[in-house]
Amino acid sequence: MGEIRSIVILTGAGVSAESGIDTFRDGGGLWEQHRVEDVATPEAFARDPDLVQRFYDMRRAAIQTKQPNAAHDALARLDAQWTGELLIVTQNVDDLHERAGARRLIHMHGEHLKAWCTACDARSSWLGPLGDRPACPACGVAGLLRPDVVWFGEMPYRMEDIYRALNRADLFVSIGTSGAVYPAAGFVREARASGAATLELNMEPSQGTHWFDAARHGPASALVPAWVAEMLEE
Ligand code: APR
Repeated sequence: MGEIRSIVILTGAGVSAESGIDTFRDGGGLWEQHRVEDVATPEAFARDPDLVQRFYDMRRAAIQTKQPNAAHDALARLDAQWTGELLIVTQNVDDLHERAGARRLIHMHGEHLKAWCTACDARSSWLGPLGDRPACPACGVAGLLRPDVVWFGEMPYRMEDIYRALNRADLFVSIGTSGAVYPAAGFVREARASGAATLELNMEPSQGTHWFDAARHGPASALVPAWVAEMLEE
């Protein structure tokens, strides 16, 4: 592997699994308990806002009882100590990367702990429920706050910044994601096209595993600290 200066890391639900946050597609995962169409689309929200708010109120409360695990801690350590370019792009809407100390971070699917006002477009930090139709802290209008989470059919956040980073990357590492959902599942190909080396760290081969130069399979809490130690020793 040539000189590595610029790293892009993509994380998915598998990086938070050992913190006790359900993944989406593993046995008993979130989407097996709820039909995606019933909770994670703008149409679902228009059809039954109370059901959707209840689902996200429960998730927003649940993640506040969880703690970062060794994988989050290792990525925060890499972020703090890596003198080159580094970007963590997470598909996760929990705040465990931040709580572990990560800074160079993009939440491409939004965040559970944020509310988005559909009246004034403001985003506000939000820890409590939205089901009781509270007022927007920015404009005061009540009942028009939604979870600031990107639903199916909506555009993920900060895609220009993400593709810019992928085009500059010398190394792309995908951690804890099934490679089932685009555009994230296509990032490995974008990185390869820019000449980056590619590595998959996941419990099992992802749907896109054949696009990676190398893959290590096992729990993120073991694989990620080991990989970060290698990167910081170089
Ligand atoms: N360590 C490493 N990998 C793990 C672990 C673990 N402890 N536990 C599970 N995994 C792996 C699984 O093998 C699986 O490949 O994490 C992946 C989780 O895949 P998904 O449940 O599909 O989650 P993700 O890839 O993040 O989903 C992408 O889909 O539903 C949308 O918006 C949602 O962001 C989500 C997106």
